[in-house]
Amino acid sequence: MSGARAAAAMLLLGCALQRCAAQLPGMLPLPHACTGALNGPAPRSDLRWPANETKLSEGLRQADEAKGVDLIFYGDSIFWEYNGDNLNGPVTKADLQRKAIFQGVFKNYSYKIMALPGDQSGNLLWRVQTGGEFPTIHMPKTVVILIGTNDLTVTQTVKYIHGNSPKTQIVLVGVLPRGAQYWDPAQAWIWPNRYTDAIAAVNAGYYALAQSAPEYIKYVYCGKPYTNDQGMNPDNVEDGVHPNQIGLELLAACMKKDIDVDMGSTRAN
Ligand SMILES: *[C@@H]1O[C@H](CO)[C@@H](O)[C@H](O)[C@H]1NC(C)=O
Ligand SMILES: *[C@@H]1O[C@H](CO)[C@@H](O)[C@H](O)[C@H]1NC(C)=O
Repeated sequence: MSGARAAAAMLLLGCALQRCAAQLPGMLPLPHACTGALNGPAPRSDLRWPANETKLSEGLRQADEAKGVDLIFYGDSIFWEYNGDNLNGPVTKADLQRKAIFQGVFKNYSYKIMALPGDQSGNLLWRVQTGGEFPTIHMPKTVVILIGTNDLTVTQTVKYIHGNSPKTQIVLVGVLPRGAQYWDPAQAWIWPNRYTDAIAAVNAGYYALAQSAPEYIKYVYCGKPYTNDQGMNPDNVEDGVHPNQIGLELLAACMKKDIDVDMGSTRAN
């Protein structure tokens, strides 16, 4: 893929994820038009989320001032699902099950999930750099990142983390396949689609980044179970984009292998 085409594809994908943020049930629509992928750090501009960012940074600050955590997951709606929260109302049994699955897989480690639905990689960069969402006292042994759309801002996030904590290991999870428009049943399950090349280009960027510093970055691709010969795979996908309960279990297991290796090393500080 040519550089220009890859850049255009990334813009599209960024747009798509902004649309996702607007379309998630229970969330307010974004007040601004789709302007494409973020190319630098940016706080969330939609009104509902600054409070959530504060909640995340406050939770981390308290943990950091106590004993710290060994493992931090940074991401968007997919990691957020593992918190067992519910955007639309009271927490359900299914929400708690998701949380329990994750707790079971990572029960040997102290961890925090720092994730916001609809986040772009530029939002994550802002959160770690400026938003107080990276520790300052107790450095994590391992950080896991699953966020879409823009490998330039992910590179900056990785550099920031490494610059502040050179011994922290980083697991970069490849962007998962996704239906074109999950709010439109006619398109939700189509794969390949207009994002296929864009996701491949972004993941190629993540892979190259990991190859450039294998002593502290691992790249892992967990996307296989989410598609089949017909398109997006309903066995493991909820709505065309988000993994369902089984899909989340598979994702946790897939990430666990590299996390276990990284957690085997001594604490970062
Ligand atoms: C985000 O904040 C809103 C409003 O305070 C709240 O309803 C929602 O549950 C929060 N979501 C998360 C993921 O914390
Ligand atoms: C937790 O650690 C113990 C001891 O090393 C190991 O036997 C067990 O399989 C680990 N559990 C998980 C869920 O990784």
